[in-house]
Amino acid sequence: EKGGFDTFMAKEIHEQPQAVADTLRGRIDESGQIVLDEVRMSDQDFRDIDKVFIVACGTSYHAGLVTKYAIEHWTRIPCEVELASEFRYRDPVLDRSTLVVAISQSGETMDTLMAVRHAKDQKARVLSISNTVGSTIPRESDAVLYTRAGIEVAVASTKAFLTQLAACYLVGLHLAQVRGIKYADEVSAVLDELVAAPGKIAKVIENLDPVREMARECAAAGERVLFIGRHVGYPVALEGALKLKELAYLHAEGFAAGELKHGPISLIEAGTPVIAIVPSPRGRSLLHDKIISNIQEVKARGAKVIAVCEEGDKITAAHADLVIETPASPTLLAPLLTAVPLQEFAAELATALGRDIDQPRNLAKSVTVE
Ligand code: F6R
Repeated sequence: EKGGFDTFMAKEIHEQPQAVADTLRGRIDESGQIVLDEVRMSDQDFRDIDKVFIVACGTSYHAGLVTKYAIEHWTRIPCEVELASEFRYRDPVLDRSTLVVAISQSGETMDTLMAVRHAKDQKARVLSISNTVGSTIPRESDAVLYTRAGIEVAVASTKAFLTQLAACYLVGLHLAQVRGIKYADEVSAVLDELVAAPGKIAKVIENLDPVREMARECAAAGERVLFIGRHVGYPVALEGALKLKELAYLHAEGFAAGELKHGPISLIEAGTPVIAIVPSPRGRSLLHDKIISNIQEVKARGAKVIAVCEEGDKITAAHADLVIETPASPTLLAPLLTAVPLQEFAAELATALGRDIDQPRNLAKSVTVE
């Protein structure tokens, strides 16, 4: 049932190109419009939205963080992302023109469900993104977009995460579309890139050998691994750290690279592995320059830098100790590619430490208590 792989997690990492392709299939109609599954909201309801709140937990929360960058850029609607367990207890400002997007693989996470109920009590509209048809969160939502990852067995989320990203991009593009043709060109260009993503994810998966080698070296070397990123690379850094914590039981943290100098840089010792998520050097080169400075800062303090960067990025190759290359992609869609080596890194490092990859200690696949 593991399809020739040693673990479900390995199998699920390899299923990602298919899972993302399945999630996109049939969702873009002949006129290029995005189709949601169950919609108890009109286009006018979507046009009336003046604020978006994304609520989720864990890995799903990281998908939400990426989505904020996309929604604000494509739609110019203010978007906040909050841990479901915090959202509900702080009296957020919600009304009929607020769209709450709830992301939950299982559709049963109690913290997220409670956030949805709170939002509905305040008359906000709720759109959910879930991998489980007919689960509680989608049933209680006004609109649903299902991810089609198939059943995820490993406790650590991989293919569900990538499909959440794909679905979230569709939601962002849907919002952009219903709000007018101003963004039409950009939306159709992004849609083309999104459709090309599964092929690129497959390329990343074919090239994971160097990642595995680095992970084994890190297992021998250290007790802590730091992840840094900027823009959408920041949530990817958080996700890389979460995977490593849950699988390897190692101290791992993700930081916004610009924050290092405000405190965390004191964690760096000779040989501390730092994994840097580097944006494309094309287009937003300012962002690229900034992360190169951050790489220099940590290198000067003895860190061993592993950079996840775009193929052919010679500047990064000149500064980092090791590079993991991913195919070129628009900045906002890059997390579909850059998250994958970090999943493999965590799984391989945890394997080297003798951990139970599919069933880490103290964790459950579906968290139905608050
Ligand atoms: C981490 C992981 C968890 C879940 C979180 C939310 O690998 O799997 O952090 O992402 O418990 O679960 P769902 O998406 O089912 O609400």
